[in-house]
Amino acid sequence: MHDHDQVKGSQMNYSIDRPKAQNPVRIEDLTLRDGHQSLFATRGRTEDMIPVAEMMDEVGFWAVETWGGATFDTMHRFLNEDPWERIRTLKRYIKKTPFSMLLRAQNLVGYRNYADDLARAFVDRACANGMDVFRTFDALNDYRNFETVVPVIKENGKHFQGCICYTLTEPRLGGEVYNLDYYVQKGKELEAMGADTVCVKDMAGLIAPYDAYEVIKALKAAVKVPVHLHSHFTSGMSPMSMLKAIEAGVDIIDTVMTPYAYRTSHAAIEPLVMTLLGTNRDTGFDIKLLARINEILEKEVLPKYKHLLDDSKMSIIDINVLLHQTPGGMLSNLANQLREMDALDRIGDVYKELPRVRKELGQIPLVTPTSQIVGIQTVNNVLFDDEKERYKMITGQVKDLCYGLYGKTAVPIDAEVQKKALKGYPRGEEPITVRPAEVLEPELEKAKAETEGLAADLDDVILYAIYPVTGKRFLKWKYGKEEPPAEVRPRSLEQARKEEELIKKAKAGLLVEKSGKSAGPPKGEALRTFNVYVDDEYFEVGVDEVGGSPVLSYIQQMPAMPAAPMMMPAAAPPAAAAKAAPAPAAAAAEAAPAAVPAAADVEGTALKAPMPGMIVNYQKKMGDAVSEGETVVVLEAMKMENALPAPVSGTIKAINYASGDSVQKNDVLAIIG
Ligand code: CO
Repeated sequence: MHDHDQVKGSQMNYSIDRPKAQNPVRIEDLTLRDGHQSLFATRGRTEDMIPVAEMMDEVGFWAVETWGGATFDTMHRFLNEDPWERIRTLKRYIKKTPFSMLLRAQNLVGYRNYADDLARAFVDRACANGMDVFRTFDALNDYRNFETVVPVIKENGKHFQGCICYTLTEPRLGGEVYNLDYYVQKGKELEAMGADTVCVKDMAGLIAPYDAYEVIKALKAAVKVPVHLHSHFTSGMSPMSMLKAIEAGVDIIDTVMTPYAYRTSHAAIEPLVMTLLGTNRDTGFDIKLLARINEILEKEVLPKYKHLLDDSKMSIIDINVLLHQTPGGMLSNLANQLREMDALDRIGDVYKELPRVRKELGQIPLVTPTSQIVGIQTVNNVLFDDEKERYKMITGQVKDLCYGLYGKTAVPIDAEVQKKALKGYPRGEEPITVRPAEVLEPELEKAKAETEGLAADLDDVILYAIYPVTGKRFLKWKYGKEEPPAEVRPRSLEQARKEEELIKKAKAGLLVEKSGKSAGPPKGEALRTFNVYVDDEYFEVGVDEVGGSPVLSYIQQMPAMPAAPMMMPAAAPPAAAAKAAPAPAAAAAEAAPAAVPAAADVEGTALKAPMPGMIVNYQKKMGDAVSEGETVVVLEAMKMENALPAPVSGTIKAINYASGDSVQKNDVLAIIG
């Protein structure tokens, strides 16, 4: 009681000594988008945002980021949630604070430039569904890619925030390309395009405090509209950079609630509120209200997501970012990709090759999607090139970049690489110089035709148009035409607690070993299976011995459905997660006839998957003639499309998978005889 009274007393004092600031820093909260995207693989569910939504609305944020970035992709792919529905649902709880979304300009919420008709429809529908602030960026800082979406934002009376992607080629601001002049010039371009605010988007946490001061000061002098800073914590510099930016006069900054803060996410709001308390930049926020929101997130929401957090390292700071001037998310993607291919020992080579590939591809900023484009091509080069030949496996996206489909690169692309990438490129071997979308055929009508009988409205059509394979699958789930697999169901707090209990037992060696039985998920050779009883429920737990230390590889509730088989850790790559659950009957039947047995029976040369991924499509059918080097199948790996060529000339004797199937490295995709 005594302690409680003391706390209460001190809080009263602080509210009395707090005059309203002359120039309060405005805050955009990113918890509900970038926060869980950065820490929890974008797996945040709408139902877990609702408990704090009304309180968040009371804080006084300049805006709350609720959508965009990877949410659109993840929701329909992994959560069985309609992304459009999230905006409408949250709007019922957050009525005063504007909603902000991250818009990848002509890339919308996908990974390539879409046609103008689709881009216009997307922005129009986002406005109609309740989006207010469009934080718009282009991965190449080529603002010709803003020309289609900006007028639609303006016509709808919404806020156009123009972003400058912050990137470096040197350890600090400067060098030939990304120097102070560059950022000032870009800010002026944005203002001239009608930007309501200009945002420095530091997605990798690269902006050092004194550089932040310089950049913000220069931008404040160069443009009239408010200036905003977005800087990820990854390298550990962002809270210091925020403070220096505030001293330089920044108008708006981004933060998250504490449980979603730090690591690759953002600075927390609460320390900042205290830092500025009583100054002329005081946020005016009620720290007690923030604490109440924190408590709900901490107790009721975070237990469901904690397993997704990469806590493999003690350190919450990634000094690799300081060493490589590269986004932390990109570095961890690269590590995952290498791990899936049993080549994690090549990570040093990847770090070495990365700046070279980036330079050859036009010294582009590293942000979605260019970070993936440069990153995956680097992995391909390291794994597949030899002394005689570089760029042996060029991804479809690198070919598009070389053609000019993403826009103008900061410096010209290496002529030799460009020539090689464009050899036989379907749009032509001569790169374009016009605005990329000028050469794109309209695509909305085609998407409408392809979803007839499945899509109920324009929102459905747009979802399919941006994500044809997973979008179609989602629409089938949405309209009850296909049973969604168990792994897309939400976890309850109770489930999360049970799993935690199991993990504790496993760690304490309290699990009882049972004699091997091999149904269910794929198992490593050293895998042992345990039966575990928690509150009368029966779980099967698989524990793998990896290098002598036991690793929990899965937990499966046994009295069948609906409690769903769960992969542990659930942060496992999508391919592995899909493998753990039995495929829905329909999908299995589709893939079965020509599937694996055929591969064993048919004579010929196998076309194997060089990496794990998802089949986009086969460009050849059974019985088609194919010549060596011709594309047989397109495989999506780490969101990049790889055209896999026929290893020999001949006839397609077997096709073992279908569009949408997940495959592992070395799976036989086709047989040519
Ligand atoms: Co971000």
